[in-house]
Amino acid sequence: MASSLGTCLCFLGILLLFSPKGSGHELPHELEKCSDFQNVNFLRGTNLNVQFLLFTPLDPTCGKLVRESSDLQNFGFNTSLETKLIIHGFRALGTKPSWIDKFIHTLLRVADVNVIAVDWVYGSTGVYFSAVDNVIKLSLEISKFISNVLVLGVSESSIHIIGVSLGAHVGGMVGHFYKGQLGRITGLDPAGPEYTKASLEERLDPGDALFVEAIHTDADNLGIRIPVGHVDYFVNGGQDQPGCPIFIHQGYNYLICDHMRAVHLYLSALENSCPLMAFPCSSFKDFLSGQCLDCANPFQHSCPRIGLLEHGGIKMEKLPKEVKVYLLTTSKAPYCLYYSLVEFHLHQVRNRNTNIEVTLHSSNLTTSIKITILKNQFIGKGLIAHSIPHCHINHVILKVLSPSQVWKKDKSSITGRFCAIPLPANHSTKMWCSSESMILQPNVNTFAKLEIPCAA
Ligand SMILES: *[C@@H]1O[C@H](CO)[C@@H](O)[C@H](O)[C@H]1NC(C)=O
Ligand SMILES: *[C@@H]1O[C@H](CO)[C@@H](O)[C@H](O)[C@H]1NC(C)=O
Ligand SMILES: *[C@@H]1O[C@H](CO)[C@@H](O)[C@H](O)[C@H]1NC(C)=O
Repeated sequence: MASSLGTCLCFLGILLLFSPKGSGHELPHELEKCSDFQNVNFLRGTNLNVQFLLFTPLDPTCGKLVRESSDLQNFGFNTSLETKLIIHGFRALGTKPSWIDKFIHTLLRVADVNVIAVDWVYGSTGVYFSAVDNVIKLSLEISKFISNVLVLGVSESSIHIIGVSLGAHVGGMVGHFYKGQLGRITGLDPAGPEYTKASLEERLDPGDALFVEAIHTDADNLGIRIPVGHVDYFVNGGQDQPGCPIFIHQGYNYLICDHMRAVHLYLSALENSCPLMAFPCSSFKDFLSGQCLDCANPFQHSCPRIGLLEHGGIKMEKLPKEVKVYLLTTSKAPYCLYYSLVEFHLHQVRNRNTNIEVTLHSSNLTTSIKITILKNQFIGKGLIAHSIPHCHINHVILKVLSPSQVWKKDKSSITGRFCAIPLPANHSTKMWCSSESMILQPNVNTFAKLEIPCAA
């Protein structure tokens, strides 16, 4: 530290000597050089060497190394804007995070904000446990940095920490030092190992900021399985992500694909090409079976969305805590899916279960699910996720599935109506039902036109 300060002062001296119009106030242009993340040989990975890199809308690709308070204003920190701090996690190989440049550029493109990237690559490398050991020291350094930002007159509530994996808990600890008065903390698959049973002081929790949210994508491995925010998104159930390898021989990508999906989802949400909306529900299973349709409880009909909306779009005075919310995604950006509840209403109950395959169909989409009407009941239902909005889907194809050999002789047709409603459902949206009864023969496709208009 002392030697780098020495170099810096010496550099300044040389510039002042040789600069033709070296006024005391204007900084020499050369000092505004861009700085990047450190790359570390992991054998030296015991030092913390934290760097704070400031990125501003004026120069989104050039990180300015901020050493003290005065650097902030000299390098274009705008006190009337919000500030986003990005904290990466464990870096096994001591390399710069591959996603960070895109993350910074995207943030600056979509929001008028100051971005601070926290480079603690030195302290995050080696073995995971030594990185965990550095969390308190790192959190203190970041807190000190934030106090330098607050000195400029910005409010605590304008600070938003985005932490990845271990970085999420670092954000939690920093928020704890600020008594939960920072504006927002976003945890991108907060780390699980060493944290699932940690105290609230040690890990991210809803007390750490005015709004805390977490996106869970690898809760059965590198991520944490318990809710840690006001809102906890369990993506595809929170454990395994579509498109990620499921066999260990697929190497490093097998290890981190699910875990890193949270970062890629968040990036996609920032670009805001489509809604990554989620539904509060008691379990992923209940969500899939169509039990949670409207976000009424506990969010009073405002479904949370991944991204930068205030409170994730939840419109409530007092936010509930640790609410698990569920969504499904595709395997590739932009990841979004839309949801519909589909139902089949029998005219007459049957004395055995009836399984119906429901396929939504349009020029560029087919999606199927199976719904079951239990014996002696009239209605069977299910949640169907599709990559285009409901109103662009033209047809539904229904097929009664023969359950087993025993019933193979059963050639009786069933009669009823097909109904569907796009989610989230609310009081003013009515369920759409086929106008006439449909007659379904076993194992025969029956088409019906879907006529759901697009919202105005
Ligand atoms: C700071 O941001 C505000 C809001 O975007 C803008 O009006 C103002 O010009 C900015 N100040 C500087 C010094 O760039
Ligand atoms: C599918 O069709 C919809 C509307 O018909 C269109 O908006 C969308 O871009 C299409 N998607 C693809 C992948 O072609
Ligand atoms: C109900 O849903 C429709 C369609 O999704 C939407 O346009 C409308 O704003 C919603 N109304 C309320 C009160 O949320």
